Amino acid sequence: MTDQYAVIGNPIAHSKSPEIHRMFAEQTGQDISYEAILAPLDGFAATVERLRKEGYKGCNITVPFKFEAFQLATELTERAQVAQAVNTLKFDGDIIQGDNTDGTGLVRDIQFNLGITLNNKRVLLIGAGGAAYGVALPLRDAGAILKIVNRTSDKAQALASGLKSNNTNISGCSFDELADHQFDVVINATSAGLTYSTLPIPPSIFAPGALAYEMMYGRETPFMKFAREHGAAIVSDGLGMLVEQAAESFCWWRGVRPDTAPVLAKLRSA
Ligand code: ATR
Repeated sequence: MTDQYAVIGNPIAHSKSPEIHRMFAEQTGQDISYEAILAPLDGFAATVERLRKEGYKGCNITVPFKFEAFQLATELTERAQVAQAVNTLKFDGDIIQGDNTDGTGLVRDIQFNLGITLNNKRVLLIGAGGAAYGVALPLRDAGAILKIVNRTSDKAQALASGLKSNNTNISGCSFDELADHQFDVVINATSAGLTYSTLPIPPSIFAPGALAYEMMYGRETPFMKFAREHGAAIVSDGLGMLVEQAAESFCWWRGVRPDTAPVLAKLRSA
């Protein structure tokens, strides 16, 4: 019997997840279906309940329901707990397991697709909202020397101290404190690209050979333009992260890791 999965969001029509998961299923021979479901803004929990009753095996969660999914899950992985957000649910009888595959997707895109090892690299994470929370733990666990900067610097400090434990390689700061610092990897996890806003980062921020990574995809943001103009060696959008977080979810559900390279190549060429 075909196992059913879905992605739930609002809006959802733009989602590439059904296409990605269908390619993964075809490639690995897994008998699954995967559709996009629009949930009313006040109807996320009811939508999940309906899917569970209908025998769905799990779902992905996107904007704006990742925090509600975090609250709904009855069991959470460590990376979902730290992220305080869930992008993947797995249904197992009465148990609703919640995971967050966004950060691992980002790390895998940087390390495997872009070929840049993060261990001992100076990494600047810009932003301290939901997107930054989603990726901070896997960046730490990849061995990055991590600085988090945010317009509201208290939020950067809070995210950094939540991650620290015995790790002294993590700090939070304000944009003013970035002068004279250089980084090997600079990641934009703010939503500034949505409004075409520029970020107050110094032009000398990119170390020789640096990667500038924009977590959004689908358009050249001011951050990407700035990085190209100020010496970043590699500038990437977040399409690879999208495919890798999907692969991580697929693997968690099905126990099979799909090959992401042909899927990413197909989306890039479209
Ligand atoms: P998301 O889920 O996309 O992370 P969010 O939780 O609302 O959305 O967080 C948005 C992030 O983008 C925050 O870090 C925000 O900074 P503040 O915490 O100071 O608000 C950041 N952000 C949005 N627009 C920005 C801009 N024009 N310049 C700098 N930071 C910006």
